Amino acid sequence: MHLLKMSKSRIFQICGIMAPVFMILLIFYWDDVGTTHFYLHTAITSIRVSHLPPVADLNRDQLHSKKSVEERTPSSEADIIQGNLDLTYVESTMGYQKGGGSHEFEQTFNAISVPSFEEKLPGFDLGIDSIKTKTELEWIQHERKRKIKDVCADSSITFSGKNRNFEDIPNKELDHLIVDDRHGIIYCYVPKVACTNWKRIMILLSGSILKQGSPYHVPLEIPRDLVHNSTSHFTFSKFWKRYGKFSKHLMKVKLKKYTKFLFVRDPFVRLISAFRSKFGIKNEDFYSHFAIPMLQLYANYSDPPPSVNEAFSAGIKPTFVNFIQYLLDPRTEKDRPFNEHWRQVYRLCHPCQINYDFIGKLESLDEDASYLLKLLNVEKFVQFPPSLRNRTVSSWEEDWFSKIPVAWREKLYELYQPDFVVFDYPKPTNLLFD
Ligand SMILES: *[C@@H]1O[C@H](CO)[C@@H](O)[C@H](O)[C@H]1NC(C)=O
Ligand SMILES: *[C@@H]1O[C@H](CO)[C@@H](O)[C@H](O)[C@H]1NC(C)=O
Ligand SMILES: *[C@@H]1O[C@H](CO)[C@@H](O)[C@H](O)[C@H]1NC(C)=O
Repeated sequence: MHLLKMSKSRIFQICGIMAPVFMILLIFYWDDVGTTHFYLHTAITSIRVSHLPPVADLNRDQLHSKKSVEERTPSSEADIIQGNLDLTYVESTMGYQKGGGSHEFEQTFNAISVPSFEEKLPGFDLGIDSIKTKTELEWIQHERKRKIKDVCADSSITFSGKNRNFEDIPNKELDHLIVDDRHGIIYCYVPKVACTNWKRIMILLSGSILKQGSPYHVPLEIPRDLVHNSTSHFTFSKFWKRYGKFSKHLMKVKLKKYTKFLFVRDPFVRLISAFRSKFGIKNEDFYSHFAIPMLQLYANYSDPPPSVNEAFSAGIKPTFVNFIQYLLDPRTEKDRPFNEHWRQVYRLCHPCQINYDFIGKLESLDEDASYLLKLLNVEKFVQFPPSLRNRTVSSWEEDWFSKIPVAWREKLYELYQPDFVVFDYPKPTNLLFD
């Protein structure tokens, strides 16, 4: 008995010594072999699918007949083929639904709907008519990255957290960085910038959640609530739990080795989009946490309806003016930082600390998405879902801001200026004094 206890504690001692040694070895592994591992993996992926004809070249009727596909391709490719098949299937199903779900469309314009329907709507910027060459796309990326470097190096431009080191960023501020270790990808998600679909792609690539034991192959099959559940993603802010005191070092190694990307959009247009999706349609959470205080503080409702349903049936909603007032109110950030839907991108993604390899813009989403998936070497494996929402576009800006006093617009610009400057969006002079 005594002997057994001795050996047990001995084992614990050994474990205590071995654990850090193991972690150090792991870090060396990442430092030295990580890259090889990464390229090996993606190379295999592309070799495995390379002999398949591109989906677009296949006759869709033939695709739907499983027999002809199986004849065409060896069974070892089944999983990937299945993925392509499903993708095509979803596309054609959507065509079939055409004109059907307009009620649902109005209720949740963020949800996936019908592409052919969207094309008919005025004010949509699908951006698919401008096909750029690879050189042009490379140049655009080069310019976007250069702009960030210049701004970060320019000491005349200041904003909070600009000059700190990566090590000094608190863990909870790293909760928007999603890691895919299988392909060596890090995505910083920005709400209101196609993040649902990019999160879907990250789930699909990393295999972080499964459907009845097997990975998802089609982004749109992953339900929204699962996509936005934080347990579905492995973020930097979770490293501490898994890797303890080595987590910051591991993060830095991964930041060095992995391909890092984010998507941004015009900051003011993003605010309109956030307002529409969180206050223009019923949302109990946003109603109780944000709309009620806005109604009390800025709209003279001392006792607003307790539920979003009652408020909507009484026609009581915060206005865009109330929302802007809320953003400009110094009391708003006293307790907690801005909600992620309107928090500035520079505070979510730390562009001066993280050297992003790819900066996508919502204004050129389709183009940027297909180029990025090629750069990540996964374009044969996954396609970006077509963007199908009633997207907020910049041509609406003057309308939306018409009731906002110009002095407030100036203040709002100051609040979001770092995002305008870092991501190279022009100052909206048409809305401001100068
Ligand atoms: C799209 O949004 C605008 C502004 O909110 C609205 O006027 C328009 O009716 C919407 N279109 C559809 C089809 O929902
Ligand atoms: C998120 O997922 C976890 C695990 O699947 C579940 O327990 C939890 O209830 C989910 N949270 C929300 C808000 O849906
Ligand atoms: C709110 O009520 C106060 C006093 O009752 C009034 O002075 C103010 O103009 C009202 N504000 C709005 C936005 O109606």
